[in-house]
Amino acid sequence: MEAILDKNQLPRHVAIIMDGNGRWAKSRNLPRAEGHRRGALAARAAVEECLALGIAELTLYAFSRENWSRPAEEVNFLFRLLVEFINKELSALETQGVRLMVIGEEEGLPGYARKALTLARERTVGNSRMILNLALNYSGREEIARACRLYMESGAPAAACDCASLTGYLYTAGRPDPDLVIRTSGEKRISNFLLFQTAYSELYFCDTLWPDFSAADLHKALHDYAGRIRRFGGLTKH
Ligand code: IPE
Ligand code: IPE
Ligand code: MG
Repeated sequence: MEAILDKNQLPRHVAIIMDGNGRWAKSRNLPRAEGHRRGALAARAAVEECLALGIAELTLYAFSRENWSRPAEEVNFLFRLLVEFINKELSALETQGVRLMVIGEEEGLPGYARKALTLARERTVGNSRMILNLALNYSGREEIARACRLYMESGAPAAACDCASLTGYLYTAGRPDPDLVIRTSGEKRISNFLLFQTAYSELYFCDTLWPDFSAADLHKALHDYAGRIRRFGGLTKH
C-alpha cells in the first residue's frame, strides 16, 4: 500500500513536461494524434489529482515554440485538441475553482485557439483554488529576451536591471517558481521550459510515457519530492 502523502511536504507549484505521446502511439501502432488525444486525458486527470491534493499551482508544457517544426498536420491537430479540451472542460474547471492562465507567445497561436483561451481566462479569472498554467508557444530563452525588451521599453535605466526587476516582465510575473518539475518518457532535459524560474526547482524524471501517467505516478513523484532537501545554496539544517 502506498504511504500517505504528508500535506506539509507537498510542493506548492508543480510543473510538468508532458512528453512521450508519440512513442505511446507508435508502440501501439496508432497514429501520433491518438497519443496526443490520450495525453489530453492524462492532463485532465493530473489536474483532477492536483486539485484533490490541494496543490495551488500546476503548469503544463503543452506546446513549445520549437514544436512548430513538426508537420503542419500534427500542429493543427494539437491546437484543435486544445480547443476541444477547453470547450469540454471549461464549465467543470470553472466550478472546481480552477483559474486558467497561459504562458507563452499567444499572438503566434491560431485565432480560434486564442479565442478559446481568452474566454477560458475570462470565465475563470475569479477562481483561486488552483492556477492551471498552460505553456503554449512557449520558449524559456525567448521569455527572458522578451523580459529584457520590455524592461528597456519601460524606460528604466539599464544599470538598474536586476533579477527582481526582470522577474516582473516574465509571463509568470508575481507568481512563485515551480517547486517540482516532472518530465515523463525517460528524456532527461529541460527543452527550453521555464529556464529562469527553475533555478532551484527539484527535478523528477520518470520513464512513464505521458498518456500512461496516472495519479499513482504523480504520487511517486510527490513522495520523491518530499524526501528532497532543498538548500537554495545554503547549509543543510540538522
Ligand atoms: C509530447 O509528446 C507532446 C508535445 C510535445 C506536444 P511528443 O509528441 O513529444 O511525444 P514523443 O516525444 O514523440 O514520444
Ligand atoms: C517538450 O517536449 C515540449 C512539450 C512537452 C510541449 P519535446 O518532445 O518537444 O522535446 P524534445 O524535442 O524531445 O527536447
Ligand atoms: Mg517529445
